[in-house]
Amino acid sequence: MVSPAKTDERMSPESLAAACVSVLRGVGCPDTVSRTVADHLVMAELRGQASHGITRLPTYVARVKSGLICPEAVPRVVSESPSTVLLDAGSTFGHVAGKQAMELCVSRASATGVAAVGVRNSTHFGLAGVYALQATEQKAIGIVCSNAAARMPPAKTRTAVLGTNPLAIAVPTRSKYPILLDMATSAVALGRILEAQRLGASIPIGWALSHDGRPTVDPAEAAKGLLLPMAGPKGFGLAFALEVLAAVLTGASVGQNAGSMYQSWDRTEDLGHMFIAVSIEAFIPLETFLERLEDLSTQVARAQPLEPGERAYLPGELEFMKEEENRRLGIPMSDERWAPIAQLGEVMGLSLRRRAASVAVS
Ligand SMILES: NC(=O)c1ccc[n+]([C@@H]2O[C@H](COP(=O)([O-])OP(=O)(O)OC[C@H]3O[C@@H](n4cnc5c(N)ncnc54)[C@H](O)[C@@H]3O)[C@@H](O)[C@H]2O)c1
Repeated sequence: MVSPAKTDERMSPESLAAACVSVLRGVGCPDTVSRTVADHLVMAELRGQASHGITRLPTYVARVKSGLICPEAVPRVVSESPSTVLLDAGSTFGHVAGKQAMELCVSRASATGVAAVGVRNSTHFGLAGVYALQATEQKAIGIVCSNAAARMPPAKTRTAVLGTNPLAIAVPTRSKYPILLDMATSAVALGRILEAQRLGASIPIGWALSHDGRPTVDPAEAAKGLLLPMAGPKGFGLAFALEVLAAVLTGASVGQNAGSMYQSWDRTEDLGHMFIAVSIEAFIPLETFLERLEDLSTQVARAQPLEPGERAYLPGELEFMKEEENRRLGIPMSDERWAPIAQLGEVMGLSLRRRAASVAVS
């Protein structure tokens, strides 16, 4: 999470999205693709997950220019059954493939009860939770996972075999926010380490190892090194299982063969994702489900805090609260964070000006 910004360091989500759209259109991305990617990056910023926000844009732009992300490609159906679809994303943006895959998945699940859509030949798709939430809009449970470039070693080794493979599970509720578990299977997502590097902060022991296997607190060393799984071998085991669903099963590149958006400049990423939608009504009446979930959530909310003034949060609650705050006040945007976007605009002959809570595109 980024540190709080002064009011004059905030931008409206609309103006930030407009700037991202301009940059993406500037490298030839179709309008709908530019809008989908921009909305995703802005959502990450709104939710306080800046590690998956605009900081990624310069690399996406470089990959489009190098022909390694193909924004014109339209995901195509490789195989299907009533409750399953396998898509080849054609190396378009993972955000575009992900959005389309979950739409398809939810629509199939409304007829079959449960549906799964696998995607191969895709690219980095950002926050897994954004797609899982699409299912909750249709009162279904959404489950999403992806593989990623190898960064995590199996326990007792110093060889990266798996990525920080994310898992998201979203559940509709009766209350203000859905439930959203959305997590990397590493102790923290790579983006958090890159963000610490950008801020000049150190990282705790237990997040990463240097490339030769030494524990490190230096994010620069960690960024070039190995990310440790969450909960040791259990986190690695979970990442392995997600790799099976997202990559082994879909035909995407597996383990060390998966490409990296930052390092693989001679090939596409060929990542795989899996999207699952579970229709609640296929199991129990929606109202019964929501009541039972409310009971469970109340038990969490009533848990006795360890310290006065503390309380328990449900999965995703902190990010939804941050999103509300940032929609109200604007997205924190320091000069330093804005500079790479302005620079991209300059190279393209766009003048993207950052003003308090707004940006002008000319
Ligand atoms: N595309 C990729 O390759 C990739 C890879 C890894 C991660 N990611 C994304 O990175 C993002 C960040 O992942 P992360 O593991 O750093 O997330 P995180 O550690 O910030 O949060 C993980 C989960 O824990 C919950 N949580 C955190 N603090 C809590 C608290 N105090 N009380 C209750 N719940 C709490 C959050 O709501 C969230 O559901 C995710 O959106 C993930 O999808 C993407």
